[in-house]
Amino acid sequence: MTGNEIKVLGEVEKRGHEQVVFFHYPQVGLKAIVGIHNTVLGPALGGCRMRLYEDESQAIDDVLRLSEGMTYKSSIAGLDLGGGKSCLIVDPAMKEGRKEMFYKFGECLESLNGRYITAEDMGTCVEDIMHMREKTKWAAGFSQEQGGSGDPSPWTAMGVFHSIIAACERKYDSKDLNGRHITLQGVGHVGMYLLESLRESGAKVTVCDTSEDSLNKAKSEFGAEVVSLEEIYDVDCDVYAPCAIGQTVNPETLPRLTCDIIAGAANNQLSDESVYSAILDKNILYCPDFVINSGGVISVGGEFIEGGWSEEWTQNKVKNIYHTIHRILDESEKRSKFPEVVAIELAKERIQEAEEKQKG
Ligand SMILES: NC(=O)c1ccc[n+]([C@@H]2O[C@H](COP(=O)([O-])OP(=O)(O)OC[C@H]3O[C@@H](n4cnc5c(N)ncnc54)[C@H](O)[C@@H]3O)[C@@H](O)[C@H]2O)c1
Repeated sequence: MTGNEIKVLGEVEKRGHEQVVFFHYPQVGLKAIVGIHNTVLGPALGGCRMRLYEDESQAIDDVLRLSEGMTYKSSIAGLDLGGGKSCLIVDPAMKEGRKEMFYKFGECLESLNGRYITAEDMGTCVEDIMHMREKTKWAAGFSQEQGGSGDPSPWTAMGVFHSIIAACERKYDSKDLNGRHITLQGVGHVGMYLLESLRESGAKVTVCDTSEDSLNKAKSEFGAEVVSLEEIYDVDCDVYAPCAIGQTVNPETLPRLTCDIIAGAANNQLSDESVYSAILDKNILYCPDFVINSGGVISVGGEFIEGGWSEEWTQNKVKNIYHTIHRILDESEKRSKFPEVVAIELAKERIQEAEEKQKG
């Protein structure tokens, strides 16, 4: 889908969206698209992205693609939530009038009557969420001091950590990470928490990052070994954990990877479906990214459970990702399909079952 050729209803039909809403309030500089993909399991949850898109079709593509992805992420995470996403076609560096614009967008969300819950995403911050909260309760991911779920990163890291344990159990018949060698690409919010847990478990961790400060912290506080951005693909290791950018598993990097497992937090780790067969040929076990990085969305979603967010509920759900990974890998063997394909199938099956129950 490129240029201005986009046929919105055609795309909506193909991807199965329930609703796409456009908001336009030039008085406050607001141009927004909200995509509600599926609400069978519950309100559609997904972040609010703020970005200067090249053209409108790019923004629509983002909204449709990402909201569909959120449906599968929430479903496989066992949440009673659906998938949605919003994109503001606005400069993320906007300062003047930002508060007023988010007040307005809060009102827009309120008009959707809770069918869509927004949260922080690329270009937006907790302050923006708090401004929307003044107009609607359908904005999530605010600070723990204010009764919210706080930073989602430690939960995302916890989900990845338990997935790595599940994957090692399958590969090596042991949950013990002591002595395992893990390469960690990116020691940012999620990567640093993951590094801490891995080191506590006795794993050897080799990291890379574009930030010298992060590398220094990883080395001095957690005893990580450091390699350059390019070398990370050539390190002989057990697990490759991409926790920075997307599409790092691609036709160029795959021949270089010598790991047994790929399990990390980054979104869209695989360049495209063509790498499935190469991953299988190399006997690498791939843990679907949208499953193992769902700790953050679980925590944010926890703000909408009865009684509000709780650490215990969140921890139980996030630790359950371990069982979900085993289930996906079992089904992957049974169905002779790539784990990512099976994860989407299982997510769709849960929605279908709920839909059938609702019909009675
Ligand atoms: N934060 C969450 O809860 C969460 C949830 C789901 C998915 N994710 C995904 O996980 C990834 C990491 O998220 P985060 O919140 O830790 O982001 P972050 O920005 O805090 O950390 C990313 C780190 O990667 C480094 N980096 C950037 N380019 C790099 C490169 N080419 N090679 C190596 N390092 C590089 C950055 O310097 C930074 O330290 C992202 O892909 C994000 O979309 C995060």
